[in-house]
Amino acid sequence: MTPPFTLRPAQEADLPHIVRLIRGLAEYEHLLHETSVTEDSLREPLFGPLPRAYAVIAEVSGRPAGLALFFYTFSTFKARSNIFLEDLFVEPAYRGAGIGVALMRHVAQLAIAENCRFVEWRVLDWNQPSIDFYNRIGAEPLIGWHTRQLGGDALAALAEGHPNG
Ligand code: ACO
Repeated sequence: MTPPFTLRPAQEADLPHIVRLIRGLAEYEHLLHETSVTEDSLREPLFGPLPRAYAVIAEVSGRPAGLALFFYTFSTFKARSNIFLEDLFVEPAYRGAGIGVALMRHVAQLAIAENCRFVEWRVLDWNQPSIDFYNRIGAEPLIGWHTRQLGGDALAALAEGHPNG
């Protein structure tokens, strides 16, 4: 049985655990080969003077065992912020004990307190256990929108002014 857990905002001293938990998620998603995050590369974005993202830790017996990491987006149509949940992860040994829902509730409470319109995220299409988990808390798929990403050579080419070669 999982011992009691507590949630708290992450601190700089948590960086080794945050990296460990992000890598745990990447491994679960079969994306470890695309992961280069380090304590040093995360320090400034999470704990520098202008944070780009925020992390909440779920602690079990004094050790970080779960992570929610998010940042803010903005809806111009409503002139309101939203929360984009980048990472949600609970260590395998502690799953099914309510930590995931507690982390989502924490993020939901922040969203309400900050007058956000919604909380959004991406989940891989094969990750049915997590899709079921999200369905259970009331999330819905976004129908009618395509997600697009510009990166790598295409990003560089556009930035350099010759998008079509
Ligand atoms: N065994 C039994 N029941 C489970 C299990 C499990 N392994 N996992 C979840 N459940 C059930 C719970 O019983 C509960 O059901 P109920 O509400 O009907 O009682 C419900 O799912 C909620 O479970 P929690 O215990 O709150 O969720 P958990 O702590 O397991 O966290 C999470 C859920 C974060 C999805 C976790 O399973 C996980 O880390 N999965 C792997 C990584 C992942 O897929 N993360 C999300 C990717 S998308 C993104 O990051 C934005």
